[in-house]
Amino acid sequence: MGRRSLIVYSSFTGNTEKIAGQFERTFEKNGWTCDSVRIRKKAEDILNPPFAIDEYDFLCVGSGIRSHLPYNETLNVLRRLRLGTDPRVALQWRGETIPYITAPLPESPPPFRDPKLIDRHRKMVLSPESPKAIVFVTYSGYEFGPKEAEPSLMLLALEVEHLGFECLGSFCCPGRFLDDPTPRAYHGDIRDRPNEKDLLKAELFIEEKLEQIADRAG
Ligand SMILES: Cc1cc2nc3c(=O)[nH]c(=O)nc-3n(C[C@H](O)[C@H](O)[C@H](O)COP(=O)(O)O)c2cc1C
Repeated sequence: MGRRSLIVYSSFTGNTEKIAGQFERTFEKNGWTCDSVRIRKKAEDILNPPFAIDEYDFLCVGSGIRSHLPYNETLNVLRRLRLGTDPRVALQWRGETIPYITAPLPESPPPFRDPKLIDRHRKMVLSPESPKAIVFVTYSGYEFGPKEAEPSLMLLALEVEHLGFECLGSFCCPGRFLDDPTPRAYHGDIRDRPNEKDLLKAELFIEEKLEQIADRAG
């Protein structure tokens, strides 16, 4: 297995970016190359993400959480990669769109007649040779703590496996909710999170995955 990693994430207030930065340093410390791409609310980031996904051996996908779900920027770039076209083509089936993408929708046949989509829309089996992935989120978890990160992590894991990457696990940690001291919340005051301990856990998490890959290869 090669040693090229890619981190793709979106972060509005910088918490998820801190974890992405720690992951990047950990890959590099372990002799991997690492490209890190923050997806912004911009048409170009979604429609033409600046990387070729199939050039990587290890993918990390991350996001903060709003209304119990990962940011649309992360989800839409994954949809773009999976569909090979403007993600609005799929979102329209849900009655949704991406407000900051204003170009006309590409002409496309209905999904059940599009040869490209039909070809990808089949049973997928990941193998030991498949490239690897992990997913990560930062969250506030006011009411239920880490349980509130689970739906987002599961959704991101499903999306990366649709891209052909075997998901080896997920990482989450609390991230400050703006300047709210959150006295009554599950995790208490999280204004310093992610803190040094969270970053250390993030580092150990990646190191453990790299050891797992090396053990499997050996
Ligand atoms: C408007 C808003 C809505 C949020 N909704 C949730 C939520 O539903 N569940 C949750 O656990 N955290 C929620 N959060 C907390 C963020 O997910 C958390 O602060 C995260 O670390 C932000 O990541 P970022 O700094 O990378 O953007 C919300 C934060 C904001 C500002």
